Amino acid sequence: MPYAHITGWGMSVPETVLTNEDLSKMVETDDAWIRDHTGIRERHIARENQFPSTLGVEAAIKALAVANVRPTDVDLIICATSTPEYIFPATACLIQDQLGASKAGAFDLLAACSGFIFGVNMAAQAIRSGSIKTALVIGSETLSRFVDWKDRNTCILFGDGAGAFVLQASDLPGGVLSAVMHSDGSGGDSLSLPGGGSHHPATEATVREGKHYIQMDGAKVFRFATRAMGSAAKEALELAGMTTDDVQWIIPHQANYRIIETAARYLKMPLDKFIINVDRYGNTSTASIPIATVEAVEKGLLKPGDKIVLVGFGAGLTWGALAAEWTGPLPVEHKVHPERYRIWARLHSVFNRLVRFIEGLIWGRNS
Ligand code: COA
Repeated sequence: MPYAHITGWGMSVPETVLTNEDLSKMVETDDAWIRDHTGIRERHIARENQFPSTLGVEAAIKALAVANVRPTDVDLIICATSTPEYIFPATACLIQDQLGASKAGAFDLLAACSGFIFGVNMAAQAIRSGSIKTALVIGSETLSRFVDWKDRNTCILFGDGAGAFVLQASDLPGGVLSAVMHSDGSGGDSLSLPGGGSHHPATEATVREGKHYIQMDGAKVFRFATRAMGSAAKEALELAGMTTDDVQWIIPHQANYRIIETAARYLKMPLDKFIINVDRYGNTSTASIPIATVEAVEKGLLKPGDKIVLVGFGAGLTWGALAAEWTGPLPVEHKVHPERYRIWARLHSVFNRLVRFIEGLIWGRNS
């Protein structure tokens, strides 16, 4: 049975930064309160022309370039997102098209902030079963579009961004070692976005009532999160036959510094074994774990051979963890320059549209 290795990683965040100071001019809050209660200092916010696919493609191109995998060699694209561009088509399909990943099957996965862990686990299972060789897992969000900027309970927490992993099959031992996924739908109402779906289709009334904004019972979610993080990490470690002593890094979902502190206490691990960057990005939902991972690699903290645990929780309710041995890129003979990925993606997209246009002309569908 092949092993599923994480061989590429990339991230992308919008350039616009919204600080706590900026927020204090929008709602009744202040920098000290936000930092004390969440650990967040600032977050990135998408421009009008930036979408989950835009950010996701950029993160994916970087991940493919690190792994030296051509878009046409990708078999499967999973986009974990809590803020899909449309109900359908899937954001993963938009990314598949923009990347020129012509061979890949693509779908979205909705498990809120646990989605990236669930997605990596699904991709790893597909690789280990032998049904695919190469997968791209993306977490991409523009949460700022669903935040009520007048609600200080929620608007301080969230940010936009994307992260991506490439997973590849190899006979070398390592890669994803174990994973656990959990859900408790009875807690669904403590964190939800009720408007715009088939229960509350968009109407003037749903917009007036603010049903298209994130609704949250912060205290309930906080209590659930502190229980879920530690227990899931422990479960994944046990399943992999490891203990906390074997682990170099825990990479948690970045929702709140205090939640991460509680998980560290539960696991009896020092906080400096946790990768934490919630101060600079806020909660970017499915993107938070890959963004934290990319930064850990780029700072030289995370190295090949390190044992890591990814752990997260989110709406649903959902929670999960995944233990892995960090691999790095597999050896290749010919390294492709990262810019070529962008050139290919652009050409492929233009070519596809041209083919569809000509098809329409020939068969008379353009009129
Ligand atoms: N600025 C200033 N005051 C604020 C505030 C803000 N942004 N938000 C809330 N407050 C006020 C409250 O109104 C309350 O005032 P009151 O006592 O007069 O009613 C007081 O601060 C304490 O509020 P409380 O809700 O008890 O704060 P808290 O310590 O629980 O922190 C959260 C609130 C939201 C930060 C915290 O509950 C949390 O992080 N929950 C988890 C949320 C999460 O992670 N969601 C995403 C999951 S993926």
